[in-house]
Amino acid sequence: MNEDLKILVVDDEEIILNIFKEYLESTHNYKVLTATDGLEALEIIKSQKIDCCFTDLSMPNLDGLELVEKVRHHDNTIPVVVMTGYPSMDKAITTLKNGVVDFLTKPIKMDQLPPTIDKVMRERSQFIENVLLKEEAEKNQKLLKINKELQEKIEEVETMNLILQQLDQVASSRDLFATLVTLSRNITTCDESYFCIMSQDMTDPAIITSRARDPSTTTESAECLDKYVIKEVVDSGIPFLIKQNDAQDSIIAIPLKIRSNVFGVLASIIRDGKRQFTEKELYFLNFLAEKASFLIENLALYENIYENLFSTLYAFVETIEARDPYTKQHSTRVTSYAVLIAKALGCSQEEIDALQVSGNLHDIGKIGIPDNILLKPSSLTDGEYEIIKKHPSIGSSIIGHFNMWSNEKNIIKHHHERWDGKGYPDRLSGEEIPFLSRILSVADVFDALTSDRSYRKRLQDDIAVRMITENAGEQFEKKIVDAFFTLFKQGKILS
Ligand SMILES: [Fe+2]
Repeated sequence: MNEDLKILVVDDEEIILNIFKEYLESTHNYKVLTATDGLEALEIIKSQKIDCCFTDLSMPNLDGLELVEKVRHHDNTIPVVVMTGYPSMDKAITTLKNGVVDFLTKPIKMDQLPPTIDKVMRERSQFIENVLLKEEAEKNQKLLKINKELQEKIEEVETMNLILQQLDQVASSRDLFATLVTLSRNITTCDESYFCIMSQDMTDPAIITSRARDPSTTTESAECLDKYVIKEVVDSGIPFLIKQNDAQDSIIAIPLKIRSNVFGVLASIIRDGKRQFTEKELYFLNFLAEKASFLIENLALYENIYENLFSTLYAFVETIEARDPYTKQHSTRVTSYAVLIAKALGCSQEEIDALQVSGNLHDIGKIGIPDNILLKPSSLTDGEYEIIKKHPSIGSSIIGHFNMWSNEKNIIKHHHERWDGKGYPDRLSGEEIPFLSRILSVADVFDALTSDRSYRKRLQDDIAVRMITENAGEQFEKKIVDAFFTLFKQGKILS
């Protein structure tokens, strides 16, 4: 074995080199090369393939240890055997650390050489095998990693596609919100998912639609949402990932925006510390919310921005009216009365258009009023009445998210003001009250009086009209009441 090996011997004593060469070449078929210092040895190693190197420690130019270092750097599979005249433990440890594979103590007996060569060559094969195995293992590791990344990418693309496909099939705003919460639940397999709106002045978020793993666990009550988180999301306009809160819930809450105004929040929840949401899920839900927002805005661009946003908001109004069966269709009827009065008073088309929007949305702020107050069958306490009185301001701040409705926003805000200044929220009086709010107020009261309410039966039309005419100049502007009365007498206004 080990025939034809090329052995390099390095020593500054020529005589030692000659002994090595003669012994190894004559007794074995080794090819022996010699060098008298480290530099010369290095040149040889760099210019041809060397199988094993024996070196002295102290030599001029480049000593043994420096040579070992450089050989290792060049090719760490070449075994180097150090020959030293002063063996000591310290030196042995240092040199071993530097990659020396063996030691021979001077004076060297020639018959030590063949077994040493056999031994280091065996170790070298082992070493190379290990390196190869290690490389192989690393390659496998890399392959596994790439496969895993690929798998994740595929899942990512599939999820994105699912989102895009489902959103593509959405036909109306209401569909959109339902699709939004369904997708959010399916993608994250969370316990509950909600789309809600929250505006300034609102103390609790209003849930527009929700989905739950177990449908019996959700209510439409805002208690299931962390209102502080929702408020933060609305105020900051950025998504939140709460890994775990005090109640052991993990929450992702993401704003939906139109023209950078937040109009709603998608909130997903994992209950009872079962697990925590990941950054990846946040990424998916953010993508979903962005696409959904974009869809609303995009539809609006291609269709009619007013109509689209209007139908989005009107879906909210229908949600409120659905909560209270007594107010079903209230907004539609109020709008039709108000438009009749406005036309009779010679309002422009622009004013009629504004009335269409503000009439239909005038009570949108009720979305921020808790059910136990809004639907209370008995009379309200002063405190509860104060909360109800917030709905015009809440409504105007919801509408205020959409910059193009500043006029409508104002009309909604003041639809409960009174001509004599005793109304709310700002106690405006007379002509301080926007004209269209004054019209809306007459229409609103007429419909309220002629509809069944939880606390009383509807009134006959003529009784309701009489109550309104009696209040001309106090609650209502006389000119408007006159026009309303004329329309009633003409049979054009009927409950
Ligand atoms: Fe109202």
